[in-house]
Amino acid sequence: MIIDSHCHLSDPRLADQIGRIHNELKSFGIESVFEVGYDLQSSASAVELSEKYDDIFAIVGTHPHDAKSFDDDSRDFYVKAAAKPKTVAIGEIGLDYYYDLSPRQIQKEVFAAQIALAHEVGLPIVLHVRDAYKDACDVLSACSDMLTDGVLLHCYSSSAEMLKQFNKFDCYYALGGAITFKNAKKDDVISAIPEERLLVETDCPYMTPVPYRGQPNEPKYVNMVIDKIAQVRGVSRERLIEIVNLNTRRLFTKYDR
Ligand code: NI
Repeated sequence: MIIDSHCHLSDPRLADQIGRIHNELKSFGIESVFEVGYDLQSSASAVELSEKYDDIFAIVGTHPHDAKSFDDDSRDFYVKAAAKPKTVAIGEIGLDYYYDLSPRQIQKEVFAAQIALAHEVGLPIVLHVRDAYKDACDVLSACSDMLTDGVLLHCYSSSAEMLKQFNKFDCYYALGGAITFKNAKKDDVISAIPEERLLVETDCPYMTPVPYRGQPNEPKYVNMVIDKIAQVRGVSRERLIEIVNLNTRRLFTKYDR
């Protein structure tokens, strides 16, 4: 069974269909999904969903877009949420210089503050990095003694060369629908990720894989991601699912299904 390590089911495009999506999970071979917050409110929704549905788990944190909203209230909430049995990580946190929706200096400070928070509560971190891989490496280096509980780069979109920089921090990498896009040219990255560091995700409702472009993404489409990776790496679907499942359990130590 597959674990979709990155979802936003409380997004308005999916929120009124969570019941249906949840009921369908098993029939599409999905064991569980991780609902990821991007600010205080969406993180609270993630915790609520994890308490309502047995196979939804929560990840709480402030996204780089929302870094300017990070305050003591968010921090206190994340610390409390981290103590809940089904909160498995702090995220998504990081740097996004493509949209620059928060000033870069604030993005860096809030990223570092949440690395410290994750270390304090003993949870792994889930990173969103876009057009900022070099600076993200610098922040990780500066915080390297606090990376004690694991690092996952979600929707990894840089080069196979940059992967070597992140391998120094023993990072895990989650691949999603973007690898199926016609112009993706990501086969070298798909092959270069160490076998014991590979995870899968949808990032739904974003990043809908081919051939469902134009529709909101859903956890069931993680199967297209599995097919693409299996084809490029030359392994069977079954073997790939086994590898990804083991990796997900090793990183998210609170995940207990
Ligand atoms: Ni996301």
